[in-house]
Amino acid sequence: MYKILTSPHPEKNLRRMVASIRQALEDEADAIAALANASAFIMAYMDRLNWAGFYFMRGGGLVLGPFQGMPACTRIAVGAGVCGAAAGQKRNITVADVHSFPGHIACDSASNSEIVLPLYKDGEVFGVLDLDSPDKNRFGPLEEKYLDEAARLIDAFLAQSGGI
Ligand code: SME
Repeated sequence: MYKILTSPHPEKNLRRMVASIRQALEDEADAIAALANASAFIMAYMDRLNWAGFYFMRGGGLVLGPFQGMPACTRIAVGAGVCGAAAGQKRNITVADVHSFPGHIACDSASNSEIVLPLYKDGEVFGVLDLDSPDKNRFGPLEEKYLDEAARLIDAFLAQSGGI
C-alpha cells in the first residue's frame, strides 16, 4: 500500500509527487502499470485537479493512455486542442483559461485551466502529459518546473524500457 502524505505547502507536495513518480518508475518495469501509478501520484499530490494522464503517439496521432479522472476523448490529432498543439509545437503549453484557447477540446466540462508537457525520445515527441484543473490559472512556473522534472524521468524510463 502506498502512503500519500500531503502538506499545506504546494512545493513540498510537488517534490513528493516527483519522488513518488521516480519510485514508481524504479519499482515497475511495465510501462502501463508504472504510468498508471504516475498519473495517480500526480492526482494525489496536486490539489484542484480533475484530470491527469497521458496521450501517446500512435500512427501519427495522439491516443489516450493511463490517466485519472473522467472518461476522456481517445484520439487527438497533432495540432488539435492543447495536447495536439503542445505535441506539434514541441513545447510545454500552460493555458490559464481553456475557454479562451482556440480549438481547446473539452473532454470534461469541469476543466478551466490546463497544462500539457510533451514527452520526448531522441528529440521527437512520443506523447504528452496532460493535467486539467477546475480552477482558472491553476498552473504556474512552479508546477511546470516539477511536472517537467517528472516528464524527463518518464522520457528516460520509456527510453530504457523500450517505449509504450
Ligand atoms: N483538453 C485537451 C483534451 C484532453 S482532455 O483535457 C483530457 C486538449 O484540448 O487537448
